[in-house]
Amino acid sequence: MPTMLITGVSSGIGNALVRRVAAEPGWTVIGTVRTVKPPSEYGLPDAAVLYSFEASDPNSSAMLATRVLAEHGCPDVIVNNAGYVLYGPVEETPPERIRDLYQVNVFSPVSLIQQFLPAMRERGSGTVVNVTSLGGRLVFPFFTSYNSTKHAMEGYSEGLWHELKPFGIRVKAVEPGYVATPIYKAMDERAEPMGPYAKFLSAMNRFSEGITNRSTPEQAAEETWRAITDTSDRLRYPIAAYARVMVRVRALVGSMAFMRFMNRQWLGK
Ligand SMILES: NC(=O)c1ccc[n+]([C@@H]2O[C@H](COP(=O)([O-])OP(=O)(O)OC[C@H]3O[C@@H](n4cnc5c(N)ncnc54)[C@H](OP(=O)(O)O)[C@@H]3O)[C@@H](O)[C@H]2O)c1
Repeated sequence: MPTMLITGVSSGIGNALVRRVAAEPGWTVIGTVRTVKPPSEYGLPDAAVLYSFEASDPNSSAMLATRVLAEHGCPDVIVNNAGYVLYGPVEETPPERIRDLYQVNVFSPVSLIQQFLPAMRERGSGTVVNVTSLGGRLVFPFFTSYNSTKHAMEGYSEGLWHELKPFGIRVKAVEPGYVATPIYKAMDERAEPMGPYAKFLSAMNRFSEGITNRSTPEQAAEETWRAITDTSDRLRYPIAAYARVMVRVRALVGSMAFMRFMNRQWLGK
């Protein structure tokens, strides 16, 4: 029976992905949450296995992997999905918050991958999926710290693609555009901006509010499932609203023209 480990399944894309995989015959799905409760309390099927995982803790990836390996063996697929957004000017972001963001969005998934690689390499198969972001291909102002973590995971994904290809391990970077999930609640902190960036934060807030046709978590999960089960060696999968179009437009017009144009759209200058 194939097994998939997905981090961060309490809500959003990870939650929808558990439900999508559970609908497939024969799959065992292990999801992580910060507080373990019966799966139904997270809207998940009873068959879903839930383990506790706090990515801010540097030891949590090793603890999780040890338990998964002991109880289920090495998963066929691991999906690094858990993550969060920091929103605000770099100048006003305390270094300790950036450090935690890197711990959760970068160091934790990299450590989790490291834990499973020996078993995947010896087995000669496996799929490593990193849920990065459209913000791993370009950068949105005030999402700078968050987007930089996703650029880091894009880099890891591309490098791992090279390193693991000889061992039969596939690497997939899934890059969501806009998906309607609780992750954007981070913007609430800046709903009434103050200070020297206030005018530009307000403009960015208005721009984001104008993005009304976001994909649902279920749509994003369906596209993620297709990426996971794509047996080709393709690495990058822009998914969900605006991801493909923005990546294409930037490639077409060049990064500087794209940045100058988007700067006016985003910051109202
Ligand atoms: N939504 C979008 O438009 C979008 C766009 C691009 C990329 N993404 C990426 O997609 C992934 C899923 O995000 P989502 O949109 O589905 O958001 P979400 O609904 O907020 O889900 C994020 C998940 O990560 C978990 N998580 C956050 N911090 C954690 C920590 N310190 N330790 C353990 N688990 C933690 C959350 O658990 P709690 O409920 O306990 O916080 C939740 O289960 C993220 O990597 C995100 O960066 C999303």
